[in-house]
Amino acid sequence: MAELVNSAHCFDSPAAIELIAALKEQQPESAKQAGYFVYHLDALKAHLAELQRQDVIKLWFAVKANPLSTIIQTLEGAGFNFDVASTGELSQVLKQGVAPERILNTGPAKSKAQITSFIDQGVNVFVAESLNQLIWLNEAAIESKVKPQVLLRVQLQWPEGDKNPLGGNSLTPFGLSVAQWQSIRVTDFPDIEICGLHIFQWGNMLSNEKMFSLWSQMVPPLKQLAEDIGMALKILDLGGGLGIDYLQQGATLSWPQILIDLAIIKQQAAVEELWLELGRFAVAECGYYIAPVVDRKVNYGQEQLVLAAGINHLLRPAITEQPFPVDLLRTSSHEKQLFDIHGPLCTSMDKLGKHALPADVSVHDPLIFGYCGAYGFTESMPFFLCHHIAAEYVFSQGKLIEVRASQPADWYLR
Ligand SMILES: Cc1ncc(COP(=O)(O)O)c(C=O)c1O
Repeated sequence: MAELVNSAHCFDSPAAIELIAALKEQQPESAKQAGYFVYHLDALKAHLAELQRQDVIKLWFAVKANPLSTIIQTLEGAGFNFDVASTGELSQVLKQGVAPERILNTGPAKSKAQITSFIDQGVNVFVAESLNQLIWLNEAAIESKVKPQVLLRVQLQWPEGDKNPLGGNSLTPFGLSVAQWQSIRVTDFPDIEICGLHIFQWGNMLSNEKMFSLWSQMVPPLKQLAEDIGMALKILDLGGGLGIDYLQQGATLSWPQILIDLAIIKQQAAVEELWLELGRFAVAECGYYIAPVVDRKVNYGQEQLVLAAGINHLLRPAITEQPFPVDLLRTSSHEKQLFDIHGPLCTSMDKLGKHALPADVSVHDPLIFGYCGAYGFTESMPFFLCHHIAAEYVFSQGKLIEVRASQPADWYLR
């Protein structure tokens, strides 16, 4: 794991300062026994409004990043469309009153039954990730007498070596190679409208230059593919992957620069519409996770903190080597020193990083983690060892509102 994180910047924004001040005043009840998430909705609204102040890209929200009802409602209010990847995500988005015309379906595990069910519920845009999916989409369209829009998901590979913009070619189940897609003609599927290409095979990009170079290198092979299969390329969907500076190294993406770059890509690809499905770049920054220290000890000379919850609430650091930045919730004038931060599970993987915290941090002190608005609550392993499920709160107009209280294990154990 990339161990040492400088937590300075993450908690410096006016929104973070406002929320931390409020949490110091009113620690919710759940804080005493387990960790909880808080999402700053006013800050989220302001951020989304900034992302929408442009006419270059059509924006979708990748629901997997955070499917909480109030988060979806806030994105819907900001004019975002929704990328869902499962029946659960579809049902949650529809339940928030989102019109099915504003929903698209991505994901490598779409069965014929799922496709039919999505069409029956009014979804009309699909990203096909295999030849089977394409055949099933065409069959379901005939059966349901609709004509869905379909984008083909492409997985490119480059020659190994310095010129490889991804730094390697790892094979994934997301989409298909150009060679596989070249085996079809759009006229073979007259009952669906194959009108676009989807490509997304990078993650947490933090350099505008690298991102632009990668996008630019994708345009010629994609245009060629469209020509080869007889498709008028109307839509190019570049997925997500815009990065968050989890390690607090000062490397952040400039949104205005992305807009300049994507206007060029749109022109080069000669498409009518350019789409992005944002996950973390839309919602990571609005979210925080707070958990109390249960124990502090020195082990072989290393200061260790054990929290009430760890990867059972926040798995991401264990699978990505990117700890979330953290700070002590209360103010302290003590010098900072390094602590290993662990959770309560019976595995050494349950570690949230090595962080600098004030030397007087002690038992019962709540710690606050930043950038937890994406891939937090639902990207965790909450059942292992039967600890409490995390609560979720929103913070709006200076008020903390409970969306779901913390729940003990007998809430789900049978
Ligand atoms: C198809 C698709 N689109 C968009 C995203 C969002 O990615 P990010 O959170 O990096 O923006 C994901 C994430 O896995 C995805 O699978």
